[in-house]
Amino acid sequence: MNGRLTITVDGRRIEARAGQTILEACQDAGVYVPRLCAHPKLSVYGSCRVCTCLVGGRATAACVQPVQPGMVIENDSDRVLEIRRTIIEMLFVEGNHFCMVCEKSGDCELQALAYRFGITHPRFPYMFPERPIDAGHPELLLDHDRCVLCGRCVRASAELDGKSALGFAGRGLRRRIEADGPRGLAGTDATGDDTIAEVCPVGALLRKGTAYRTPYGRRRYDHEPIGGDIDAPCGEAQEDR
Ligand code: FES
Repeated sequence: MNGRLTITVDGRRIEARAGQTILEACQDAGVYVPRLCAHPKLSVYGSCRVCTCLVGGRATAACVQPVQPGMVIENDSDRVLEIRRTIIEMLFVEGNHFCMVCEKSGDCELQALAYRFGITHPRFPYMFPERPIDAGHPELLLDHDRCVLCGRCVRASAELDGKSALGFAGRGLRRRIEADGPRGLAGTDATGDDTIAEVCPVGALLRKGTAYRTPYGRRRYDHEPIGGDIDAPCGEAQEDR
């Protein structure tokens, strides 16, 4: 087998490497699986469920689940798209995401996912939680209103920066990212050179003084849909029948 195996994604047979996750195998084959908490430089976390697909009819997180020979996966069916759309809408109503005035607009993965899924407004009532902003750090800003609890910053601080500047605190709707210091981010050893802002998919962690270096209209998702760099043009995806 040479560590190779075959899976089926939306009726297309795809060759994968043993040990790959569904998300990785799909990506190598030019099939985009939406994701928020997954990041190529970070360990697998599996929290946001935006990557949900159906494996043999069962909802599965594609970023966590390793491929198995003969797996039959739905990544683009109406049911899968509806599950993902619901998760994305819930992320919007659980926080305070005012895209029209957000400095991350155009570079925000949550906003870009909403565009990709054709979401113009959530079907659920907004919760408008009261959340503080941690602006005490000279180089970094932590805006809890925009946080989607993906944990990328927590993992980046530990795995890429070799620190433990951030962690999780609280449970349920009170769960939040918390700086490991009594003075918030300013009380940690985090600096503007750390990767924690770079990996944030939304505008929750920002480097101060950099927000408008690239103006609105010239940002990444102003020009291409999220996942557009992965989606293979029709007919180019790996296909064996
Ligand atoms: S990307 Fe898979 S659970 Fe978040």
